[in-house]
Amino acid sequence: MSEQDDRHSDVDDIASEHAPDRFDGEFPIRIHGLTNAFGDVKIHDQLDLDVKRGEILGVVGGSGTGKSVLMRSIIGLQVPTEGQIEVFGQNITEAEPDEVIGVRNRWGVLFQGGALFSTLSVGENVQVPLKQFYPELSQKLLDEIASYKTVLTGLPEEAASKFPSELSGGMRKRAGLARALALDPELLFLDEPTAGLDPIGGAKFDELLRELTDTLGLTVFLITHDLDTLYAICDRVAVLADKKVIAVGTIPELLENDHPWIQEYFNGPRARAATATHERGKALDKPDGQGA
Ligand SMILES: Nc1ncnc2c1ncn2[C@@H]1O[C@H](COP(=O)(O)OP(=O)(O)OP(=O)(O)O)[C@@H](O)[C@H]1O
Ligand SMILES: [Mg+2]
Repeated sequence: MSEQDDRHSDVDDIASEHAPDRFDGEFPIRIHGLTNAFGDVKIHDQLDLDVKRGEILGVVGGSGTGKSVLMRSIIGLQVPTEGQIEVFGQNITEAEPDEVIGVRNRWGVLFQGGALFSTLSVGENVQVPLKQFYPELSQKLLDEIASYKTVLTGLPEEAASKFPSELSGGMRKRAGLARALALDPELLFLDEPTAGLDPIGGAKFDELLRELTDTLGLTVFLITHDLDTLYAICDRVAVLADKKVIAVGTIPELLENDHPWIQEYFNGPRARAATATHERGKALDKPDGQGA
């Protein structure tokens, strides 16, 4: 057997030893009656939301409406005042910490701002969750996996040895995504991944995300302000306002909703520009060139 085959069989053995059965239910995330408060201030009040398996769910809402707090609640970093959150069918609000560990290694997270550890190289950043959950992995294997994840997100292989400060903003986002994908997650949480990127960089990131979602069979909880992202890659969009998810659906479905924030957001001038870009893109994609 060649060295290459050896290496792959090591990876396969470790993967199959640790891999839990993939979730095959309809909703990997179910939130019911969620209330979050800081002191007397309620951020969420009896919020409900189900996320479908295999979808990219866009999560939108004005600044301060509690999108990041919602994400933090789902991944167990924010203890809710009330309500239930099920992830992969397990109630994480009531589970003991060691029960949650079995669920935590099935999701990947890119936090708002995408903070990578600045004193670690990209490859070492990707290895952080691997070392945390699989301390027995050899350094050789850690390097292999980090290099594979780096390339998977469209970065050149040599980016693995660079420090975050040596990368452009767009490359840093990809590096953050590589770290979020380190554990082969089924669920991906992304908080404003394209914020600060120019439109072309943002569109490329969107394309990558859609492709990875489809090929790796991910479910994605994607907080974004980016209308282009919503139009280009989200299957459904959930709207946070009035301390709840006031609507969830496809963009055409949301356009039917007469809530003032939804109308202003999806029918405002920026939304019209994003629709026009999206329609133009679809026309150019047609093989017969019709409408281009
Ligand atoms: N740890 C905390 N302690 C107290 N208040 C908090 C804490 N975290 C968030 N908040 C408050 O909760 C509210 C919702 O914050 P959150 O970060 O979820 O907003 P957001 O919708 O993500 O906004 P943005 O679009 O600006 O990122 C804000 O008023 C914020 O100040
Ligand atoms: Mg936020």
